[in-house]
Amino acid sequence: MDAIDALMTRRSYSRGSLLQPAPNRAELAQILQTAMTVPDHGNLKPWRFVVIQGQGMKDLEGLLRSIYDGEVENEEYFQRFIEEIINTPMMICVYSSINQDTRVSVLDQQLAGAAACEHILLAAHAMGFGGIWHSQETDDALRQMLQMGEEDQVLGVISLGTPKRTSLAKRKSFVDYTFEWNQEDGLQPWK
Ligand SMILES: Cc1cc2nc3c(=O)[nH]c(=O)nc-3n(C[C@H](O)[C@H](O)[C@H](O)COP(=O)(O)O)c2cc1C
Repeated sequence: MDAIDALMTRRSYSRGSLLQPAPNRAELAQILQTAMTVPDHGNLKPWRFVVIQGQGMKDLEGLLRSIYDGEVENEEYFQRFIEEIINTPMMICVYSSINQDTRVSVLDQQLAGAAACEHILLAAHAMGFGGIWHSQETDDALRQMLQMGEEDQVLGVISLGTPKRTSLAKRKSFVDYTFEWNQEDGLQPWK
């Protein structure tokens, strides 16, 4: 698949629609190496990748139960939520690893990490896999589990696997989101 095709055809797949196989170790190494190529102010590589699959995925059940302990109102719904997660073929948790000894802003460092998330999704897609990016609150349990620093934030939890069926959901046109600017005319809609 060429690069433009990969960009144009990537879609998100719900966790429940991602089946085995997940990328194997060599494929995953290639995917993660593409994430190391993102634009990165100061070349700080201010992110970490934590791969969870197999036993790690099963172990998440206990962790999720401890995080939501006492907050679960509907056990049946919660059990379905847990099962959807632990049946996901693979997850890559991407968190920011903020470098304090730099003039590069925390935002720039987080944006570079977000670009890494997108590279993971795109590379996986180009190799025939599907994925989805989920946001995840960075609570204390997660911080401890992933040995994250105080300033670090989870930027995305990327689920990967093989999609049940290919999605080609329609895209909006860039035209409605794009303007041209010059001093005399100010902002003008793209024509
Ligand atoms: C920062 C970020 C966080 C996201 N978090 C969630 C999420 O928590 N739950 C979810 O279903 N999708 C999440 N998504 C995925 C979007 O829902 C998805 O990209 C969007 O529906 C567009 O679909 P597409 O990727 O196929 O274009 C997230 C995407 C981004 C960029």
